[in-house]
Amino acid sequence: MKNILIIGANSKIASECAKLWAYKKNNLFLISRNKNNLKNLSLELKKNGSNIVKYKTLDLNLLKKDIRKKLEKNLVNLSKIDLVLFAFGELLDNDIKKIKLKNIHNTINLNGLITCKLIYLFSKIFLSTNKGTIATITSVSGDVIKKSNFIYGSSKSIVSNFIIGLRSNIRESKVKLIDIKPGFVNTPMTKKFKKNILWSDPQKVAKDIVSKIDSHVEIIYTPFYWRYIMAIVKLLPNKIQNKL
Ligand SMILES: NC(=O)c1ccc[n+]([C@@H]2O[C@H](COP(=O)([O-])OP(=O)(O)OC[C@H]3O[C@@H](n4cnc5c(N)ncnc54)[C@H](OP(=O)(O)O)[C@@H]3O)[C@@H](O)[C@H]2O)c1
Repeated sequence: MKNILIIGANSKIASECAKLWAYKKNNLFLISRNKNNLKNLSLELKKNGSNIVKYKTLDLNLLKKDIRKKLEKNLVNLSKIDLVLFAFGELLDNDIKKIKLKNIHNTINLNGLITCKLIYLFSKIFLSTNKGTIATITSVSGDVIKKSNFIYGSSKSIVSNFIIGLRSNIRESKVKLIDIKPGFVNTPMTKKFKKNILWSDPQKVAKDIVSKIDSHVEIIYTPFYWRYIMAIVKLLPNKIQNKL
């Protein structure tokens, strides 16, 4: 039985992971913005099998200082956490004619900088006990920056690169850093996109995440075939990448 903290717990992908963790009787601590959704999710998780489910609302954009204290208040002592999953994020409309500087700032700040700060905070906490897993949902969009979502892709690539650098600094320890890279997943974030054969449902992606997080992998492509798609796309010239 583990103590699992999910930041951005109302995310469709994360809530599906939480349900699977609840079946295995893990204790779940949830942070997200929408109180009603958190309440409903926690009731479901208790029914599914978790003994302890606690939640709190927090807008991560408002986290400026005393971050650890603010995360812990009325929730859990972070030293007791075995696994933290970062699942929050926003997808910015990429219309270059309409986009505002403020929106670019917000997306890169939330998906990129805030995520890196939280990864760093947890790495310090986990290093002090030499255990713990930090799992972060980035995206295949961070592997190859496409014209259609270059701001979102850039914000995710910052995090993937940060994880690579931090991991090489703490490799001697038992703290695990996992980068989760989903392909296209049918969730509220992507509801206005036309779907095709490459799209997956969040339940499938969650199953992948939960089963692979306990293995020794450092990067989880989900579904698995995105590893091969991205390996090929990375080899293509930029002009062709953009036509795909
Ligand atoms: N869907 C895809 O195709 C896809 C592909 C690759 C990667 N991803 C990544 O997967 C992760 C989960 O996304 P999803 O697809 O499951 O989308 P989602 O259901 O829309 O979830 C995103 C969640 O982020 C939370 N959030 C956003 N801004 C926040 C803030 N300022 N403070 C706290 N929480 C905030 C929201 O919480 P509230 O509901 O509480 O407001 C929302 O539930 C994200 O990092 C996303 O970038 C998604």
